[in-house]
Amino acid sequence: MIFQGESSLTTEAFLNRYWQKKPCLIRQAMTGFEPDLDGDDLAGLACDEMADSRLISGNHASGDWKVSYGPFSESDFARLGEKDWTLLVQDVEKHYAPLQDLMQQFNFIPDWRLDDLMISYAATGGSVGPHVDQYDVFLLQVEGKRRWQIARSFDPSLLEDCPLNVLEHFEVEQEWVLEPGDILYLPPNVAHFGIALEPGMTWSIGSRAPSAADLLQGYGEWLVREHEGGERYSDPGLRIAERAGEVSLGALKDLRDLMRSQITDSHDIDEYLTAFLSRFRLAREPMAPDVQVSCEELIVSLEQGAQLIRHPWTRLSWYETPQGARLFAAGQGLDCDIRLAVLLCDTPQPLIEPASLDQRSIAMLTQLVNNGHFALLPAS
Ligand code: SIN
Ligand code: CO
Repeated sequence: MIFQGESSLTTEAFLNRYWQKKPCLIRQAMTGFEPDLDGDDLAGLACDEMADSRLISGNHASGDWKVSYGPFSESDFARLGEKDWTLLVQDVEKHYAPLQDLMQQFNFIPDWRLDDLMISYAATGGSVGPHVDQYDVFLLQVEGKRRWQIARSFDPSLLEDCPLNVLEHFEVEQEWVLEPGDILYLPPNVAHFGIALEPGMTWSIGSRAPSAADLLQGYGEWLVREHEGGERYSDPGLRIAERAGEVSLGALKDLRDLMRSQITDSHDIDEYLTAFLSRFRLAREPMAPDVQVSCEELIVSLEQGAQLIRHPWTRLSWYETPQGARLFAAGQGLDCDIRLAVLLCDTPQPLIEPASLDQRSIAMLTQLVNNGHFALLPAS
């Protein structure tokens, strides 16, 4: 558990005192953490076209920030000097499945609020500049030393003509040097500036939180898809239009009411929201496999000891209904009992007891397999 480092902070105390409220430094939160991946592995991943990677160089003093985007080749890395650059790769836990175990350490936060593991490898002096993020982040120092400076009040003006969102002015309020095993938690809207004092890696466990605009945009798209746009404006009591171009106050009220009427059926909205969250900020979704299984084949495989393995890009979210759980995978809704929903979400390799499955659960698992959300690994 990450809060059992040198601090005596409990998870509850962390949530009460710090989460979304103020920064928190946890020294030796993960002492002895052995990373499954090093700088060379990260560079290798950044050469893969499936990975979302960036190389950032420059420094705060000169303001000459440069960004280039992957996939990179070995010659891109060979050209880099000894100093002032950072390689960042997003969604690393989806490319290196064993790193999902690390994400499990953060499962005191609801799964739908966690985004990804971004890893940065920085040369001495490497930095992405002083900036502000909209999401909570846990910065885990994995290798080398990095100095983090923060400011809770700051001037939001950004450096002009800069390819990055770097703050033009940054006045340090607090600073720490993080060493391997230390974690710095930052809530949204705290300006921060990390600079590598020696070559090393910072692993950022990032969160996600939809904005009202994200939700409304998604809702509009969902209405179009699921309900052909929902109800349409109608005006059986129409009067002669008196003033050219005018949208009357009465029509505006009816239009407002129409919009509001679409978001008052709370069950339907919960359906939409959970579906939306199962794909929010996902760069990719699994594809259906070429070979489909039948319910009978699935149950026989499970009886023979086959293992279900969740696709790394699959996001599962569910909500409670009077019938049990409504679970979504990449926007597709399926019904099951709550026990099965929890089992499927709890770990990437859920242990399914075939004898415990009813017909509805078997049909639901078969769909998850046939849509690529779970692979069926035969017993060896
Ligand atoms: C970094 O790892 O250098 C950047 C992480 C962040 O500022 O959120
Ligand atoms: Co940041």
